[in-house]
Amino acid sequence: MKLGMFYWPCGHHIAAWRHPDGIPNSGSNLPHIIELAQLAERGLFDMFFMADSVSFWRGELDAMTHDSYGTWIEPFTLMGSLAQHTNNLGVVCTATTTYDQPYSLARRFASLDLVSGGRAGWNLVTSGNRAEADSFGLPEHMEKAQRYKRAHEFAHVVRGLWNSWGEGVFIRDQKSGIFFNKNKLRTLDHEGEFFKVRGPLNVPPSPQGEPVMVQAGASDDGRELAAETAEVIFGAQQTFEGAQEFYNDVKHRMLAYGRHPDSLKVMPGLLVCVAETHDEAVKKYDQLQDLIDPVTGLQLLSKRLDYDLSGYPIDGPLPDIPRNKTSSTRVDLFIEIAHRENLTIKDLYRRVAGARGHYEVVGSAVEVVDMMQRWVADGACDGFNIMPPVFPSSLREFVELVIPELQRRGIFRTSYSGTTLRENLGLVRPPWPIKRTNLNE
Ligand SMILES: Cc1cc2nc3c(=O)[nH]c(=O)nc-3n(C[C@H](O)[C@H](O)[C@H](O)COP(=O)(O)O)c2cc1C
Repeated sequence: MKLGMFYWPCGHHIAAWRHPDGIPNSGSNLPHIIELAQLAERGLFDMFFMADSVSFWRGELDAMTHDSYGTWIEPFTLMGSLAQHTNNLGVVCTATTTYDQPYSLARRFASLDLVSGGRAGWNLVTSGNRAEADSFGLPEHMEKAQRYKRAHEFAHVVRGLWNSWGEGVFIRDQKSGIFFNKNKLRTLDHEGEFFKVRGPLNVPPSPQGEPVMVQAGASDDGRELAAETAEVIFGAQQTFEGAQEFYNDVKHRMLAYGRHPDSLKVMPGLLVCVAETHDEAVKKYDQLQDLIDPVTGLQLLSKRLDYDLSGYPIDGPLPDIPRNKTSSTRVDLFIEIAHRENLTIKDLYRRVAGARGHYEVVGSAVEVVDMMQRWVADGACDGFNIMPPVFPSSLREFVELVIPELQRRGIFRTSYSGTTLRENLGLVRPPWPIKRTNLNE
């Protein structure tokens, strides 16, 4: 079973920063984040993952005055620091294809891969926060289909640059004076719809060759891009059946790219609130739920649905939420939960305040592991992106209660098997380039 430790300032529950165990300045508290990474490494997690938005979540909404998730250390910079305080843990963070350039991104991640000794991963996103357009002086956020088109070309350029230096290219022979063999240099010379980039990249490969490609899109375009380029895919699945459908679908799509299904690890997000007993875990979760005030709840929903709900009664139903060409699958997911469970606005924000639409499990270690074991054994995923509700206490509880139970059942490692992220994930470096073939031909 593969495990990611999904860092979110203060914890994943929206009220984490107000909980007695919470650290309100978590997002900018480097010693505290280093402690979390070391705790995750003690728990033998595959990776530390941090999401990102390059701008404050704003849009047409009021500032998020009650939400701790507004400011944090830029994740790429943070990963460089965490790499120096850990030895085996993967360091994976988000970078956007909509507001970045492939050459500079390829260069940064290749360098992170070197300074971490081959433990870097890039979570490719197309940006969920449309306020990012304002930070770059653009009139509006690009439509989703265009964003994915750009992401596709972007990923192609990045991997092309990472593959500049073929096997055995560096000779570095002091006697002959030959540094590298130019016949083994693969200079990318790309000209496409969005980018014109000439290689090679001036950063050499790391011990794992190139950073691990991670993705988190769930739409048709997102799944297709993952099938072609991702080695890890995160998700936000609400039910076991939904997770199974997602798993089978992305693994099936990989066949068209000549990829083996095992070369992509599917890791849905999972909020785990665990304690010595079921009742204690429920008590902690309820304590968090009771700390959500209505302003925060409404802001959370407004932000995620990209629709201002501040004028609506919280005990009434969710109004019709308009969808547009920039909307993500998460908007559909929230609306589906509200309709399926017949929820009021207040019920809905309480329902998603912990994990923003990801699956949640609250209980003893045995109950938590029963669920995790079933999902992996029955083909719904290859592991999980663990979302502790409050940092650091919920991560400590996971490491001390859940990890030993997973190990006792023989479904999780008892030591790291490799030094690189790709080795620990049981992946080999993907070929370059990957091409789609029509399976019907
Ligand atoms: C675990 C997880 C982490 C994500 N991290 C980010 C992120 O850091 N930044 C971002 O803009 N979107 C993030 N997303 C959103 C997705 O990358 C994707 O953009 C979103 O789901 C919209 O694409 P879709 O409509 O294809 O699903 C994340 C999603 C998941 C499930």
